[in-house]
Amino acid sequence: MDALVEAAARARERACAPYSGFRVGAALEDAEGRIWTGCNIENASYGLTVCAERVALLKALSEGARAFRRLAVVTAAGALTPPCGACRQLLWEYAGDIEIILSDGGARSETLRLSQLLPRPFDATYFRP
Ligand code: THU
Repeated sequence: MDALVEAAARARERACAPYSGFRVGAALEDAEGRIWTGCNIENASYGLTVCAERVALLKALSEGARAFRRLAVVTAAGALTPPCGACRQLLWEYAGDIEIILSDGGARSETLRLSQLLPRPFDATYFRP
């Protein structure tokens, strides 16, 4: 299996998801080949929950990574799980049109580009051309 998918599957095991029971793992590969992982982290307030994708991206950015190639998202859901709308927007801002691999951590996977998941994205070009 792709090392990036494997990293996302391992990160999924660290999910803090006592409320939804829905465990998500993400792994983001930067332009230097480094892998940044994340899992979803829930809170009793619900609204403070942070998605796995955002944890991975914010970890990478805060450690200085600036260019990205691919993101893997692993869940055990019946259908392969894409990043939520908020994560798509944040990924677009900082990672651009990266490859997104959706996987069940086993045989099933699908690869798309972020522009397929977030067509006609809003970004700073609209007000800072
Ligand atoms: N979740 C993610 O981590 N990533 C997504 O793209 C979709 C949703 C998490 C948030 C919450 O902990 C649980 O899945 C159910 O929404």
